[in-house]
Amino acid sequence: MKLAVFAQLLMTLALVLATAVAADPDLLQDLCVAHLSSGVKVNGFTCKDSSKVNASDFFSDIAAKPKPTNNTFGSAVTGVNVQVIPGLNTLGVSMSRIDYAPSGLNPPHTHPRATEIVFVLKGQLDVGFITTANKLISKTIKNGEIFVFPKGLVHFQKNNGKVPASVIAAFNSQFPGTQSVATTLFAASPPVPDHVLTQTFQVGTKMVDKIKSRLKPNK
Ligand SMILES: *[C@@H]1O[C@H](CO)[C@@H](O)[C@H](O)[C@H]1NC(C)=O
Ligand SMILES: *[C@@H]1O[C@H](CO)[C@@H](O)[C@H](O)[C@H]1NC(C)=O
Repeated sequence: MKLAVFAQLLMTLALVLATAVAADPDLLQDLCVAHLSSGVKVNGFTCKDSSKVNASDFFSDIAAKPKPTNNTFGSAVTGVNVQVIPGLNTLGVSMSRIDYAPSGLNPPHTHPRATEIVFVLKGQLDVGFITTANKLISKTIKNGEIFVFPKGLVHFQKNNGKVPASVIAAFNSQFPGTQSVATTLFAASPPVPDHVLTQTFQVGTKMVDKIKSRLKPNK
């Protein structure tokens, strides 16, 4: 085999391998239950003393019941990530339960560190994501059905029924992170300057301030 061909093969292999590990890093021991209050910062959490680990580090019942949805958007996310189940630290997976009032919306947002797959527990939702080519991929899904939102892409779910809906979501990250488009731009602290937003959205300051007042931080 010519050296150049061999070098090219090696490079292709390296690229393939790099793609294969483009998610939460793999673990280097059986378990590493998060020491959530440790002052030591690493990529993830440090491990707590394994002699103090027990079943409660791997358990949660917070997604057993629907969360109240009487808020601005009519939806509520119950995140079941490493902050809730410390035993998820270094395992690269987590879940959420999302509840929706009739017409409730989980507004457009992204998870910078994970792909999401949702299973509809009950009700019917209009869901979709937008690719970087700005194409909307959308569908109506109902109980028992599954839909996928690829990593990092902006997506949403809206209850299109007259009764409450809920889904279970799974993520390939212990802590997927969420960036909601509207609140990121209009409710950041300190605020994104008005002139940036008026120019971005091609509207006046009044309109920008109106949206800002409706989307106060922590709402
Ligand atoms: C696990 O240990 C904690 C104390 O570190 C204790 O409060 C809890 O009851 C234990 N849980 C189980 C399931 O043994
Ligand atoms: C939502 O409803 C619960 C009772 O079901 C109530 O305690 C809570 O204050 C309400 N929240 C809002 C924001 O209206």
